[in-house]
Amino acid sequence: MSNDQKRAVQLGWDAMSDSYQEQSRISVDDVHYAPFAPGERSLRLLGDVRGKRALELACGAAQNAIALSRWGARVTAMDFSSRQLGHARRLIAESGTDVQLVRGDMESPSMFRPASFDLVLSSFGWEFVPDLAACFGECHRLLSSGGLLVVCTVHPLSAFEWDVEERALIVTDYFNPPIEVWEDSDRRAVTHFRTFQELHDLLTDSGFVVERVVEPYPAPPGRSTPYTGAYWADHAERLSRVPFAIVFKARKA
Ligand SMILES: C[S@@+](CC[C@H](N)C(=O)[O-])C[C@H]1O[C@@H](n2cnc3c(N)ncnc32)[C@H](O)[C@@H]1O
Repeated sequence: MSNDQKRAVQLGWDAMSDSYQEQSRISVDDVHYAPFAPGERSLRLLGDVRGKRALELACGAAQNAIALSRWGARVTAMDFSSRQLGHARRLIAESGTDVQLVRGDMESPSMFRPASFDLVLSSFGWEFVPDLAACFGECHRLLSSGGLLVVCTVHPLSAFEWDVEERALIVTDYFNPPIEVWEDSDRRAVTHFRTFQELHDLLTDSGFVVERVVEPYPAPPGRSTPYTGAYWADHAERLSRVPFAIVFKARKA
């Protein structure tokens, strides 16, 4: 089941990649955490990354990885969609950075040795992983002692529908968030929404200490942010009232 789901997600991202990159405006000068929201330059979750060994999982077109590299980190970026990696290759070449690209599954990154990284992060990859416990276990293995894991994923409230007329969110059952099955998918590609407690417990059960939780709030109009684009324009009111993302800063104990 899990492998079928992952294959469907991989094929889905191969198919969506060009339009996602065209409709999103993602900065290569900052790490993004949510649409229209301030990025790392404002939120300061990562600390000084100079000289750190960083791994971006589910990197897409590797915009975060490029920003980290520009800030002086030694960066590896991984994704399993060859189409997304094609965009990453182009942006890395355009930026003149030295990001190492790897094709692989973030649930089982067995090509890396234990303690290979000081920082592991992903923006919007975790929600596609069926077995997040296995993935966090691997992140723990890959990090050096005291290393940082930054989990930026869809907020549990993102699972629910926004009623445009009522201008309100319809939360049918917070404790059992629906699994989103992609509409145009022949196979069963899904997005997993996890409650705050589930995400927190998965992290602590994997040996991480949660240091900070952020629900990024949209920046005031006119302020530039690292993640915008046509896709998000129609959702502005919802995004100003309900968090889209949740970010956990966790450390390997
Ligand atoms: C929403 S995009 C995010 C890309 C990038 N982090 C960004 O914020 O633009 C999700 C990415 O996750 C990747 N992905 C999903 N499941 C994955 C897995 N198990 N292993 C590696 N990459 C995965 C997809 O291929 C896709 O590029």
